Parts: sequence; structure tokens; C-alpha cells
Amino acid sequence: MKKLFIVANWKSNKTLSQAKEWLEEFSNSNFPTSRGEQFSNNKEIIVCPPFTLLLELKSLIVDQGLPIKLGAQDISPFENGSHTGEINGKQIKEFADYVILGHSERRQNFSETDETIAQKVRMANKYHLDPILCAQNINTEIAVGVKIIAYEPIFAIGTGNPDTPESAEKTAKLIKEKNKIDYVLYGGSVTSVNVKNFTQMPNINGVLVGGSSLDPKEFSEIIKNA
Ligand code: PGA
Repeated sequence: MKKLFIVANWKSNKTLSQAKEWLEEFSNSNFPTSRGEQFSNNKEIIVCPPFTLLLELKSLIVDQGLPIKLGAQDISPFENGSHTGEINGKQIKEFADYVILGHSERRQNFSETDETIAQKVRMANKYHLDPILCAQNINTEIAVGVKIIAYEPIFAIGTGNPDTPESAEKTAKLIKEKNKIDYVLYGGSVTSVNVKNFTQMPNINGVLVGGSSLDPKEFSEIIKNA
């Protein structure tokens, strides 16, 4: 069975109490009796909260034995040291296994360049974090060392106007061929209603979910329907 990555990108949302509520509702709707058995093990569930929530979520996930991995939404391009405001790879690795890099919101609003992103990919790999690199189209530069790409067309992000599954499949296939990469996810206005149309495509290995991942019941449905 094809491996599927179901990734929640919470962006700059949720306080600590809201995150705890989310986790409680999410685990109640998914793992009522025996932990995780409801999900076939081809699905990797990854939640990417803001940095401030990683510590608490990690401890709750471990305590409750939930089959959820954590990811960060960014990483410093530098090692530890005098870089005010930055969180580096060594620090993130204490809590997370993945990191989203090169999201279009960071490229647009924080002037991230392919060069900075490549430096961040190097840091992620050095500290054994798997980068999930966002590609806006087939021409996005993919840094060396990336194994998971999320194809996220800008018109589809947060608009309720997803790409068609056929077009996403075509782009995923081209990205795989061009970059010799095994996993390409689709992201942009994914919901529990449309997720299957994407994940049933042969070259799409999962989804990166923004808005719909903020609601624990909706995210559960996305996982079930994927
Ligand atoms: P969306 O965001 O699901 O809200 O469209 C996806 C993303 O930006 O990763």
C-alpha cells in the first residue's frame, strides 16, 4: 500500500489551551479504545504547530502513546549563537521529526529566497529533521537533501479553490521525475470532502492541510478519508 503523509499546518494559530483541547478532541474521535489501530500504518500523521506548543504537545503525545509525529513550520538557517529570535535545528529536534520549509507565505511575507531555504534544508538534514519543502510549481528550485515535496499552488492556498486532482497529479509526476524524489504531497484548500480525490492519484503521497486542520474533527475525517 502507498505511504501517505497527512500533515497539519496550523500556521500562526492556537494558544496552549486551544492546542490541548484540539488534541483531546482529536484523540477521542480517533483512538477511543486501542491506540492507533484504527489507522492503517501506511498513514503518517504529522502536526506542525507554532514553536510555543511543541513542548507540551510532545509530552502529551508521548504520555498518551498517540501515533502522531510533530513538525516545525520553520528553522533557523544558522547554528546556535547570536541570532536573536531564531530557533535552530538542534533545539527543534528535541521535539519534532519534520520541518515545513519554503512555504509560499514565508517566501512572500518574509522574503525567503531559494538560497536561504537551501541553507535551512542543510540545517534540517544536519539535525535529522525531514524537510517538507513547499513547491509552488514545477519550476520551484528543490534543494539537495529534500525527500518530501508539497506541491502547493498559490491560487489554492486558503481560498477554498483547490487545484483539480488531475492537474495536481500531473504536476506531482513531473516534480518526481525532475527531482528524482519519492514523495510529493498536495496542499491547498484540502478538506475531508476532496482529500480522497487527491490521495487516490498514483503520484500523490499525501496532503498538507492548513485551515481544515484547525478543527480536530475535520482533520480526523481527512485522515479517515485519505
Ligand atoms: P489551506 O493551506 O489548506 O488553508 O489552503 C494549506 C497550506 O498553506 O499549507
